[in-house]
Amino acid sequence: MQRSVAADPTATSEPSNCDMSIDTAEYAQRRDRLMAAIGNSSAIFRSAPLATAHNDVEHPFRQESDFFYLTGFNEPDAVAVLAPHHEEHRFILFVQPKDPERETWTGYRVGVEQAQALYGADAVYSIHELDTKLPEYLKKAERLYYRFSLDRAFDNTVLRHWQKLLRLYPKNGYAPRALEDVRFVLHPLRQLKSEAELTAIRRATAIATAAHNRAREVARPGLYEYQIQAEIEYVFRMSGASGPAYPSIVASGPNACILHYVENNRQLQAGDLLLIDAGCAFGYYNSDITRTFPVGGQFNREQQIIYELVLEAQQQAIAAVKPGEPYNAFHDAAVATIVDGLLDLKLLTGDRDEIIKEEKYKHFFMHRTGHWLGLDVHDAGGYKQNEEDWLPLQPGHVVTVEPGIYIAPDIRAPEGQPEVPAEWRGIGVRIEDDVLVTAQGCEVLTEGVPKAIAALAAAA
Ligand code: GLY
Ligand code: MN
Ligand code: MN
Repeated sequence: MQRSVAADPTATSEPSNCDMSIDTAEYAQRRDRLMAAIGNSSAIFRSAPLATAHNDVEHPFRQESDFFYLTGFNEPDAVAVLAPHHEEHRFILFVQPKDPERETWTGYRVGVEQAQALYGADAVYSIHELDTKLPEYLKKAERLYYRFSLDRAFDNTVLRHWQKLLRLYPKNGYAPRALEDVRFVLHPLRQLKSEAELTAIRRATAIATAAHNRAREVARPGLYEYQIQAEIEYVFRMSGASGPAYPSIVASGPNACILHYVENNRQLQAGDLLLIDAGCAFGYYNSDITRTFPVGGQFNREQQIIYELVLEAQQQAIAAVKPGEPYNAFHDAAVATIVDGLLDLKLLTGDRDEIIKEEKYKHFFMHRTGHWLGLDVHDAGGYKQNEEDWLPLQPGHVVTVEPGIYIAPDIRAPEGQPEVPAEWRGIGVRIEDDVLVTAQGCEVLTEGVPKAIAALAAAA
């Protein structure tokens, strides 16, 4: 058996259970904004494929985020075209036609007729008509907006159509003159979250908050990391999340020094720190939270010092999240705090400014302090406006703030830096919150997961 057959979503007039907080008017508004930006051009979007996990077994379907952002349509093997210059049809969908026999295997399809009413398309065709109908919506476009390399086979389809239109140019007198990456116009729109998107993100953060709090309640020596993972992911699904936003990291003791540790198979020991980096997806919007706490409720001296330093760095970073600040300001704040702390501890040595400039702290803190968060965990859009300048933060941006210090058991100091004494080795701490930029400053969406030392010791 492959996927089970889903209930007919049209029965409740809900397009799917994925976009419960975003209404069709908002999707239309998003398309209008993109169309205003591309003028007399066309934009083409390809859905995600139905992905095979191994042999005849499929991964759960997950729509491609740009496609979903503009359509809310949640099926594979679909194409969306925006053609603002077209006289009749500005939003065109190509979808899988109804096919009861196939649907028994691969799940319910909305089909051509329903898609028009449910998704607000001006024209809907079967995906099998793509080659005959697509040129109509591309031929008079000034340029084509498209994102290459998500689907190589479809890249060739787009190129083939474009080349054909170029060949016809001498006779027709029109053809798209350029292909442009759609991300430059679309992703700045995705970066600013609407109220409906924030509602979904708040649900995702609330569910992940409950999951982290549950994990901290149950964690005790003797349990395995995967048992904590199971508690977390149970809360996700029981609360209506579609599942983890990314593979949950439950890293005890020295495993916390491995940034993308996902084996989750070590037994928790008294005296360990436990680093949990876990978030969920709700309506395709994500949360991303990390907490680190002592399994037995007591930090040892070195653990506590490192924890306090990371917490201080995170608080300084959060204080730098406000409108008008350059995106990098909160990273700079975290780095400065961590470098000052490690200099005080004599784990770093030398000139502070030079250490920062030459990144000589990177054997302890090797990743950036955050990223955009939204439909993708590492959400769409750049961080700079040109080679020199970072984007200014704006109300509606959502970022993670996640400094860390990782002192691997076999940590190697770069030349000129001191060897790390044994008592510090094997300590890994990261603290990560999801933060909304507001008109006044920011709102920490995940503050319901405690991180003050007193709360962690008391709760354990
Ligand atoms: N869990 C992925 C990240 O923190 O970026
Ligand atoms: Mn994370
Ligand atoms: Mn993150």
